[in-house]
Amino acid sequence: MSSSVAPNAVAAVSEARQWDRLMQMARLGAIPGDGVNRACLTDLDHQARRLLIGWGRAIGLAPSVDALGNLFLRHEGTEPGLAPVLTGSHMDSQPNGGRFDGIWGVIAALEAVQAIREAGLRTRRPIEVVAWTNEEGGRFAPGCMGSMAYAGFRPADTWNDVTDGEGLRFGDELRRLLDAESDIPRRGLGVVEGQAPHAYIEAHIEQGPRLEAGGHDIGVVEGIQGSRWFLIEITGKSDHAGTTPLALRKDPVQDMLRAIAALNALTHDPADVLRFTVGRIEVSPNSSNSVAGAARFTVDLRHPDAAVLTAKGDAIAATVRAALATCTATVTERFHALPSRFAPTIPDAVERAAKAQGLSSLRMTSGAFHDAQFLGPVCPTGMIFVPCRDGVSHHPSEYSTPAQLAAGARVLAQAVAELAGG
Ligand code: HGY
Ligand code: MN
Ligand code: MN
Repeated sequence: MSSSVAPNAVAAVSEARQWDRLMQMARLGAIPGDGVNRACLTDLDHQARRLLIGWGRAIGLAPSVDALGNLFLRHEGTEPGLAPVLTGSHMDSQPNGGRFDGIWGVIAALEAVQAIREAGLRTRRPIEVVAWTNEEGGRFAPGCMGSMAYAGFRPADTWNDVTDGEGLRFGDELRRLLDAESDIPRRGLGVVEGQAPHAYIEAHIEQGPRLEAGGHDIGVVEGIQGSRWFLIEITGKSDHAGTTPLALRKDPVQDMLRAIAALNALTHDPADVLRFTVGRIEVSPNSSNSVAGAARFTVDLRHPDAAVLTAKGDAIAATVRAALATCTATVTERFHALPSRFAPTIPDAVERAAKAQGLSSLRMTSGAFHDAQFLGPVCPTGMIFVPCRDGVSHHPSEYSTPAQLAAGARVLAQAVAELAGG
């Protein structure tokens, strides 16, 4: 394998070391079937961050953390005043997640920086490895809180009162994390406090089937489709299941079924491009012999065309209300990320590095959302995808081979070295 920009750094990437770190991380929150359940701001997340900080410190990287808990490991450049090249992803997982979504991008960033340092490559710019807070949005909705706050997309205190399934507040859990990391130096909140990076590259598994199906090694990500999240809360009247005639009921479960059927009709797309998902349903009091008093469900809506995402998303509330027979509903939008396109600079650098290393690549748009879509408006941004088995993700059987992940880390090392002026 040859490369033109950083031959030693590319060669210094260690497949075994990267895989070993991934498997150590996978033990933190391990669930049956080789899966991982490591939600943001849990004790498991604290432990994973400490493990990463330890690896970073062992190779001379200085840790720091900002007000949203975004964690950085800094490689100093020969010109420390220059804006850094930022590379990383997220460490939190889905509740029934895999060993690679997010965390590989953080470990690959560490591996790339370690390889650059072991190759003795001096870079003009600093390089910072970043682990963003709460990308998944599984425990606290929405996702991408850390990167949205860093990029100034939303104020840092936007989500303090969001609660998880046990009623814990995001603000309180964030405070608990920051207190637990009181020994880690603090830093300003990214762009909001004048620290825009020079560039951002995120390595991530594809979470889809295209690279594997096409026999490609690397995905050159040119953009990310848009995502909108809604919470629909339907309020009825709890009653006795045996004595209450149906004609007198205000049953939110029945109205929820009507609302979901109407939303299925609204979002039906013969071309199967529009993604409509109801992933979470909650009923209270959730008792088999009581008519429910309340029902709530989530909507995850995605499309690569902003006009479609806007039109369909804006119609959700009226569609729900028109479908109800006896209850009332509130519709709250919790995430609004329009489709993003990356400027060519970083995708071109990624494609160049893949070609220099004899890897086949495919330009593509991401179906999954990522922190990168909030960095795109603030600096040249791009992503590197590697194939994952059967395109599966957000499931314990999520898998990429050590060799596939090492190829991604080598492309990352070359692109980062080039951008940092190595
Ligand atoms: O949901 C997503 O697209 C991302 O994997 N969190
Ligand atoms: Mn992810
Ligand atoms: Mn994910």
